[in-house]
Amino acid sequence: MIFALATNNAKKLKEIQRILNALGHDAKTLRELGIETEIEENGTTFAENALIKAKTIAQICKMPAISDDSGLEVDFLGGAPGVYTARYAGENATDDENIDKLLAALKDVPAEKRGAAFVSSVCLYVPVENGEDISVVCTGRCEGWIGYERIGDGGFGYDPVFMVGDVSYSEMTAEEKDAISHRGKALRLLGEKMANMTF
Ligand code: IMP
Repeated sequence: MIFALATNNAKKLKEIQRILNALGHDAKTLRELGIETEIEENGTTFAENALIKAKTIAQICKMPAISDDSGLEVDFLGGAPGVYTARYAGENATDDENIDKLLAALKDVPAEKRGAAFVSSVCLYVPVENGEDISVVCTGRCEGWIGYERIGDGGFGYDPVFMVGDVSYSEMTAEEKDAISHRGKALRLLGEKMANMTF
């Protein structure tokens, strides 16, 4: 089954494609499908935003679409930045600006209070002609903590400061990250559900 991937984030795309390929699925990027669109993510949960993205793209492309909406929940910040993770330091903030703001917010906070989780909700949306569309949302979490400084140079986004044990997401190989990551868990759950679905 070929899906449209409802994201413009190149690094996230690569991860989703890699995990879906490992599950035996193929996914086309919006660029490959010739679609250029910005989707307003105005949901209040990862699940709502994932549904908005997958539904919008599935209806434009007239084919099944898969989306991911993800972010960081930091204990010391009462679960923030949550759905605002991409915009934590402002509307068009860079990864570096977001990380700087997070490290500043946790300055002098001791290790035992730096707990955090990365969360990913993925959505499969299938438009059905002459029937009711199908949508499935699955969520994965990876528990960790926010490091005191950037460690490692792989990955993207907040990877250099998201620690699992004493290793940052940035230091992990792609396979190591996929095996424990929020996105890996969410997509594997979705894969299990898709295995029992007929399109
Ligand atoms: P979204 O594109 O609205 O889902 O925003 C997700 C935000 O969380 C962006 O700032 C991403 O960089 C960040 N993010 C999501 N997943 C990861 C990850 O696996 N590693 C690091 N940052 C991530």
